[in-house]
Amino acid sequence: MTGSSMRRAFEWSSGIKIFQDRSDLSRSLAELVLDAAERCVEAQGLFTIALSGGSTPREAHRLLGREPISRAFPWDRACFFWVDERCVAPADWASNYGNALRDFLGQVSLPPENVFPMPAELPPLEGARAYERVLSRFFDPPPGSFPRFDLTVLGLGSDGHTASLFPGHPALDETRRFVVPVRGGDPFMDRLTLTLPVLNHAARTVFMVAGRDKADAVRAVLDLEDPRLPASRVSGNRAWLVDVEAATKLSRRNGLDTPRQEGAH
Ligand code: 6PG
Repeated sequence: MTGSSMRRAFEWSSGIKIFQDRSDLSRSLAELVLDAAERCVEAQGLFTIALSGGSTPREAHRLLGREPISRAFPWDRACFFWVDERCVAPADWASNYGNALRDFLGQVSLPPENVFPMPAELPPLEGARAYERVLSRFFDPPPGSFPRFDLTVLGLGSDGHTASLFPGHPALDETRRFVVPVRGGDPFMDRLTLTLPVLNHAARTVFMVAGRDKADAVRAVLDLEDPRLPASRVSGNRAWLVDVEAATKLSRRNGLDTPRQEGAH
């Protein structure tokens, strides 16, 4: 399969797609990332993506690192950033960067200067400021504005958190910073996270959610738009890729784009 046939297979639309099985969900995310990368490189010569941590995107990451996607992907024109990071060394199982390296980035011919891990080994506040400088230099946003990723990939916690923005945490009220330190989550630890203004400034955002334990959060965000849940506060050009388990409590009024047999090329 070539990149262009995959491009035909995935048509970006803001909305919700439900998948019967997790492998179809993962394949769809990998194809979406390839499609976005190809389009951005064609249009502007460069593709910037901010990856999520957690377990849900890992199979999609592995697909990116394997044929046929790895062959079609414009690695030399793609730059990888993270939406959040746990403050641990890359070798730690909890490291989002470390896991991405093990899952795909370490296996493809990606120039090392195209990878921008969060500086998780610095004291958290220092790490947040350092990553903010990295983003400022790279994106060079006008004063008062924010970096614009071509694509951010987000997960959803069963409590409605996304990136490392947790319900009730003051980090949610940040209006100026690009990156802040946060202590929380599962595993409970120091973390660095992009702020809502940066997430909301992305050209496109895709949420990937799987599992029955996420069903209440999916409903609270998509049906009820409950503003107490951080994921409800992510705005802009959003698409949701959700497995059938996570979608069990979703109402039909959301105009679900259900099983289009994503895997059938
Ligand atoms: C992290 C995240 C976080 C994650 C959700 C879902 O580093 O912890 O980026 O927001 O996406 O917690 O995690 P799972 O995919 O493991 O359920």
